[in-house]
Amino acid sequence: MSLPWYHTTTIYQIYPRSFYDSNGDGIGDLPGILQKLDYLHELGFETLWLSPFFASPQKDFGYDISDYLSIAPEYGTLDDAFCLIEETHRRGMRIVFDMVMNHTSDQHPWFLESRTSRHNPKADWYLWRDQPNNWHSLTGGSGWRYAPERDQYYWASFLPFQPDLNYRNPDVKRAMLEIVRFWLSRGVDGFRLDIFNVIYKDAEFRNNPLKFQLIPSVDNPSGFFQEARYNLNLPESFLLAKELRQVCDEFGPKLTLGEVSGKREIIRKYLGETENDGLTLVFDFAMLNFRFQADYFRRLIADLEAAYPAPFMPVYVFSNHDRRRSMTRLKGDARKARLLVTLQLTVRGVPCMYYGEEIGMTDLPLPFHSALDPLPHKYRFVPRFVFDLLGLTINRDDVRTPMQWDASPNAGFSSAPHTWLPVHPNYRTVNVAAQQADPGSLLNTVRAILALRRAHASLREGTLQLLDGLPAQVLGYTRQVSEERLAILLNFGEQTCAFPFSTGQVLFRLTPEDNLEAGAARLAGLGGLIVHFGS
Ligand code: GLC
Ligand code: CA
Repeated sequence: MSLPWYHTTTIYQIYPRSFYDSNGDGIGDLPGILQKLDYLHELGFETLWLSPFFASPQKDFGYDISDYLSIAPEYGTLDDAFCLIEETHRRGMRIVFDMVMNHTSDQHPWFLESRTSRHNPKADWYLWRDQPNNWHSLTGGSGWRYAPERDQYYWASFLPFQPDLNYRNPDVKRAMLEIVRFWLSRGVDGFRLDIFNVIYKDAEFRNNPLKFQLIPSVDNPSGFFQEARYNLNLPESFLLAKELRQVCDEFGPKLTLGEVSGKREIIRKYLGETENDGLTLVFDFAMLNFRFQADYFRRLIADLEAAYPAPFMPVYVFSNHDRRRSMTRLKGDARKARLLVTLQLTVRGVPCMYYGEEIGMTDLPLPFHSALDPLPHKYRFVPRFVFDLLGLTINRDDVRTPMQWDASPNAGFSSAPHTWLPVHPNYRTVNVAAQQADPGSLLNTVRAILALRRAHASLREGTLQLLDGLPAQVLGYTRQVSEERLAILLNFGEQTCAFPFSTGQVLFRLTPEDNLEAGAARLAGLGGLIVHFGS
């Protein structure tokens, strides 16, 4: 059996602005990523996903693009981008870019032209209406914005400076797919697709039905008292997934990872019904709100196995540039983080890790009023603790602080007097250099398990079976491909526990006390084992 590479790979997300600053201006850049490629290669991730670094006014730090074919000067040049693709490939790794197809910046020449009048060549490239309907944006409140030049309103799914393109206009779709082709022809291995599920809106702009739901949820991400029936997960978006897949297929097997949200049985449709002929992967964001309990993960795994059976593949993600970091959720407990990554890297799925997650970086709570992220300004009158209680990250600056490389000033991220966001003060202890030197560190755990994953086909391609009859605090499962079978046992409890288990060869233990002997497994609190059976 051999699965396509995009179903067996491991993904590391880089937020370019915060990864490594090569020229001392306080902002991470593409040459900086280039300088850290060996770090990533040695760590063992196979695919890098870069958040956007294209020309942009940077009001939403690159998720507002003004030219898809050039690079924002603070990040480098087109040649830097080409060089990064080449150097990633030279190390046997892959690189995927972030495609923001849904919207452009309001400074993109297409929009500047579109807004000038009702009759210009780009007049229909965006969604213009004489009157707003009742739809809410993903950030809350009406997503319609008035433009006096046309005496009309345009639609923006996210923030007002990010107008949505009109994909019912074939010229728009063609132009965007040409951009996709441009990057594919330059060797990019695929794309993460920004808010792919809002790309199509109801052709008649029917009002959304009202629904009693104040807080946005994964199922209904716009929340705020309405069901996003007519501006989310339209059948046309599922079709676009297939069209995009065909464009990618012109260039060989490429990874497409959709940022989508909605009910699981709906977001699955982006992959295709019976065959995987749509996007190759989708995020399933419910797990970003995980609870650290064996039961929670037993159910999550069972649900994802049911929702993404072969030829589909789930994605396991616990942090990203929009949401609370996993280590913050774990209250800084490195033992828990080591257990969680062991799970993430050994279940049946593509793991996706966010820069700094491998060393357990935590959120830095920064004030709303001075936020660089535009989102908190929308909510500056609501006290921060309200969002904390609801578990919502509003100031995304908190999770985008510079990568903590070592204990030198600015955590070794930059030689500038000021970095674009402050460095988390815990960098003196939480950093790459310190963890490289510590065999039991989170970083070395990630490295060791990634190496196991490369060495054992069952971890990459095998089926997964949850194990029954274990103590309640222990989560166990096997991975199997032909003769090779691995068992993974994880003790989510703080107490040591022992139970009968067939003897095999121990490949990895989370703590020195974890052991398998004479037909019994013994796991320390928050301990775990990876056991090998068969050839
Ligand atoms: C996605 C991105 C987020 C961005 C938004 C608008 O949710 O992950 O960072 O602000 O889309 O593009
Ligand atoms: Ca720089």
